[in-house]
Amino acid sequence: MFDRVAEIQTEAEAAIGAGVNTAELEELRVRYLGRKAELTTILRGIAELPAEERGKVGGAANKARKSLESQLEAKAAQLDASELDARLTADQIDVTLPGAPSRPSGHLHLITRTMRQIEDVMVGLGYRVMEGPEIEHDYYNFTALNHPEGHPARMLQDTFYLQSHPEVLLRTHTSPMQIRAMETQGPPIFIVVPGKVYRRDSDATHSPMFHQIEGLAIGEGITLADLQGTLLEMLRAIFGESREARMRPHFFPFTEPSVEFDVSCFQCEGTGSLADGERCNLCKGIGWIEVGGAGMVDPNVLGFVEGNGYDAERVQGFAFGMGVERIAMLRHGVPDLRRFFDNDVRVLGQFL
Ligand code: DAH
Repeated sequence: MFDRVAEIQTEAEAAIGAGVNTAELEELRVRYLGRKAELTTILRGIAELPAEERGKVGGAANKARKSLESQLEAKAAQLDASELDARLTADQIDVTLPGAPSRPSGHLHLITRTMRQIEDVMVGLGYRVMEGPEIEHDYYNFTALNHPEGHPARMLQDTFYLQSHPEVLLRTHTSPMQIRAMETQGPPIFIVVPGKVYRRDSDATHSPMFHQIEGLAIGEGITLADLQGTLLEMLRAIFGESREARMRPHFFPFTEPSVEFDVSCFQCEGTGSLADGERCNLCKGIGWIEVGGAGMVDPNVLGFVEGNGYDAERVQGFAFGMGVERIAMLRHGVPDLRRFFDNDVRVLGQFL
C-alpha cells in the first residue's frame, strides 16, 4: 500500500507536469484527488489497515495529497497566465485602423460657413463681431430703431410676440444690436452682427427662422461713399473679384437716406443675357441681384444713445443688413430655402 501511494504520486506528478491547459488540469484534479480517486479511497480506508501500517501509509498518503494539491495550484496559475497572454495577443485590436466602412467626417453647415466667410471679410476691414439676444424687447427691435407706433412690421401678423409679455418678441432682424452695441461702446464703432431672426413667413424663399448679418459703422466724417466702398469690398469677397455694387433708393425707418444694394450678376457678368442669347435666369435679365438693405443711420436712432457719445451733430455713419440664406442660395443655386433646415445629409453634404 505504501508503494502504491508512491506510484500514484509519480504518475500524477508526470501528468500534471505534462498538462497543457486549465481544462485538462481540472480533469487531473478529479482523477487524482476527487471523491472517487484511488488516493482518496486509500486515505478513507486508513482506519481499517493493520495498526503497524496505519501511520506509515497515512503519513505518505497525506503528504502525497498535499504535494499534488500545491503542484496543481502552481501549474494552474502558470497555465492561467499563459492562456491570458495568448488571448491578449490574439484579441489585439488596432484602434488606429480606420473603421469599416470608413465614415465621412462632418463639416460646417453651409449657412454657418457663409456667415463666417462674411465675418472674415468684415474683420479684415477692421470690424468686430458681436452677437445678441434672439428674444428681444420691443424697445430695441422697433422703438429705438425709429419705428413709429402702428408700423406694419410691429403687427401680430408679422412678428412672434411672447403671450405673457406683449412687449417681448423674437427679434425680426439683427438691427436691434445697433442700439445694444452703441449702448456698450462709444464712437467710433465698427461691428458686424450675425444671428438668427424670426418672422411669420413660410414659403420657398422664406422660413420663420432665418439668418442675417448686420453691419454698423459710426464715427466722424463717415459718408454714403464709405458705405459704397465697404459694400463693394464685401460683395467682391463673396461673389467674386469682378463684381460691381450699386445702391438704389429705398425706405427703412432707421436710415436716412435708405438704400437697397445689389451685386452685378455673377452668372451673366451683369449683361442680363447668357452666351446663347437667352435671358439670364438668375438676375431675370436685369444684370443686378438684390442683396440687402442699408443707409445712413437716422439721427433719431443716434438720439436714443446720445448719452453714450453719439451726438448726431458730431458723428454719423452707415448700417446695412442682409439675409444669409439668400446669399447661400444665390451662390450655390439652391432653389428652396427650406432645404437648409430639413437636415437631410444628402443635401447638406453637397456643400463641403
Ligand atoms: N433690418 C432690415 C430688414 O431686416 C435690413 C436693414 C436695412 C438693415 C437697412 C440695416 C439697414 O442695417 O441700414 O429688413
